[in-house]
Amino acid sequence: MDKLVIRGGKKICGTIAASGSKNSALPVIAATLLTPDGTFAIDRIPDLKDVRTFIQLLDYLGAETSFENNLLKVSTGQLKSIEAPYELVKKMRASIYVLGPLLARFGHTRVSLPGGCAFGPRPVDLHIMVMEKLGATVTIENGFIDARVNGSGLRGAHIDFPISSVGATGNALMAAVMAKGTSVLDNAALEPEIECLCNFLVKMGAKIDGIGTTTLVIDGVDQLKAVEFENIFDRIEAGTLLCAAAITGGSVTLTGVMPEQLTSVLDSFRQSGCTIAANGDAISLTTPEKLLPVDITAQPYPEFPTDMQAQWMALMTQAHGDSTIIDRIYLERFNHIPELNRLGAHIEIRDNWALVHGPQELTGTKVMSTDLRASACLVLAGLVAKDTTEVLRVYHLDRGYEAIEKKLTALGADIERQKYQEFS
Ligand code: EPZ
Repeated sequence: MDKLVIRGGKKICGTIAASGSKNSALPVIAATLLTPDGTFAIDRIPDLKDVRTFIQLLDYLGAETSFENNLLKVSTGQLKSIEAPYELVKKMRASIYVLGPLLARFGHTRVSLPGGCAFGPRPVDLHIMVMEKLGATVTIENGFIDARVNGSGLRGAHIDFPISSVGATGNALMAAVMAKGTSVLDNAALEPEIECLCNFLVKMGAKIDGIGTTTLVIDGVDQLKAVEFENIFDRIEAGTLLCAAAITGGSVTLTGVMPEQLTSVLDSFRQSGCTIAANGDAISLTTPEKLLPVDITAQPYPEFPTDMQAQWMALMTQAHGDSTIIDRIYLERFNHIPELNRLGAHIEIRDNWALVHGPQELTGTKVMSTDLRASACLVLAGLVAKDTTEVLRVYHLDRGYEAIEKKLTALGADIERQKYQEFS
């Protein structure tokens, strides 16, 4: 098993290019299942564990794939299965993204129920609601979602989401693009990753209006084609690297980014006293003498992203004053707090919000990752903690960050990956 050993106190300074987005790459890869025609070439796909797992799933289904230097080539002309097995879905709940495309293409699919994760139950009821609205019969048996539609295929429908759901919006789009007739998605997710998926589907030949709004209108087409496409940047990786500079009193410039997709995060950095310059495809951050406390509430886009909540909490341990952190998307996404407090933070959990007292001097020790963004939070804390911090079980981190320790080393961190054994 791998751990990251961090000797804290080094300023994070320099310029680095952002990687492609994980959370747009996964639905885009799923959408290649929609057509047997041709070979896709998708660039700026981040080389991280969740992407590798999704490619494994496509291989299992019978796709032909090749992936190197962030370029993914896929052809799904010879698929041999319509089932997403438990062993892969359990590794990555985003496997549920094959539900829509497989149902649209074959009229039948079986996808293992994904189960929960470290910070909550992660239900899929909205995904099922979508497929039923589009005419499918869905049964849950033996731990699988079994969805099928009669010979005439899926038909357009009006789908009104009771809450904003990135995944269910993505699955609805991929099911509706070849349904007969028009579909309207109300209260659709606004996340840039969904906008990216819409742009990919339109390039494949889909008809989608209202892209970038909460009302998407899809006119079903008979067929789609394989295309070349470039993925968008990862706004959560970008926000994490900005936090690394801010927590260590450094300064960083990120290139290959779209500042307008990080507005709420950049506003919070400004409120903390950081200077942010955002122009074209670059964001620069410099840090004040004293960080100011900034309250955040994680909500659907364009508000502060829940995937940045843990990282912001690490930063606020160094702010001069108290800050509150609320997560309205995942009420229990606070597993990082006990480990931050073991590093010397003073954070109290009150119902579904956290009170961060600052500034607190952090001192290094061994800490346990529990999920992807919690492990990123602990790495950030290790960068500022005195002495040495060992972040264990970094397989969580590897799910969503491409070679993060190489990037941080290039920016001045003293961090290295080591193998270790855990007591059985
Ligand atoms: C996506 O997950 C992201 N994952 C998550 O990022 C992110 O935290 C989340 O969106 C919210 O922004 C990917 O894109 C692969 P949702 P998703 O459906 O689609 C509830 C990371 O760290 N809900 O928008 O699963 C759900 O419980 C990961 O990169 C239902 O009730 O999230 C949550 O409270 C973690 N029923 C809310 O909706 C459903 O059927 C939003 O979830 C589906 C969701």
